[in-house]
Amino acid sequence: MTTRTLQKVIESAATSDGAGVKLRRSLGSSQFQRLDPFLMLDEFGTENPDDYIAGFPNHPHRGFETVTYMLDGHMLHQDHLGNRGDLKSGDVQWMTAGRGIIHSEMPQQLQGRMRGFQLWINLPAREKMKPPAYRDIPASQIPGVDLPGGGRVKVIAGTLVVEGKATPGPIQGLSTDPLYFDVALPARAAFAHPIPPDYNAFLYVYEGGVDVGPAGAARVLKMRSAGVLSAGDVMAVTAGAQGARFILLAGKPIKEPVVQYGPFVMNTHEEIEQAVRDYQSGELTRV
Ligand code: FE2
Repeated sequence: MTTRTLQKVIESAATSDGAGVKLRRSLGSSQFQRLDPFLMLDEFGTENPDDYIAGFPNHPHRGFETVTYMLDGHMLHQDHLGNRGDLKSGDVQWMTAGRGIIHSEMPQQLQGRMRGFQLWINLPAREKMKPPAYRDIPASQIPGVDLPGGGRVKVIAGTLVVEGKATPGPIQGLSTDPLYFDVALPARAAFAHPIPPDYNAFLYVYEGGVDVGPAGAARVLKMRSAGVLSAGDVMAVTAGAQGARFILLAGKPIKEPVVQYGPFVMNTHEEIEQAVRDYQSGELTRV
């Protein structure tokens, strides 16, 4: 059994997107900071409504999936198909853009804290042009499991196994087979979990800090940083003196060329040009 070590740290950087929403981007801050099949991770977290109130008005996507996880706040999603979803604290929206979607993501609160993540997961070539779809997963459908050594894990995608007991999350059976856990640990508590050896994995610490890797060779991963893990079949962390909250992501790499132009992620430049033409002509969302 090989415990994965901390191979690379991607510190998040402040940026803005949409109509001026302030956020912190780690994965995806450049084309060299992706981890197949994960394209991008944004953390949004602020007490100041001016940082989020303008939201993300209508914009297109093609060729991948977006996963929004709200820790705190209230966001309304609407798309060109007439779908409408109300995302509140603890809820997840899993959207497959496929061949094309035009949607808006707008905060529904005028004050208070807005906090959460948006993750982009790539689709393999054979699925990039499939019909768009999305799932709203209320917090009540996301299982939470208490850890024997203290702490708690919410299982958003994939299956958690603790002391031989399997807890499947609501998202299963995708071709990238993603694992998406939200983990909270008290000070000095440990958490370890198997990850298939051929999957890429990273964690993103949003409170406190963790030591990543096997005992004796662990490295510190600080808050607001993504830690890419080396190959191995188990991930293992220990929370620092302040405890820790982090998300853990793992997935099966697609191993195809990635060409991204803003909200379009395809395999070739020609496909990107086609996506832009389709957006301009209305073909992107023609049913
Ligand atoms: Fe979007």
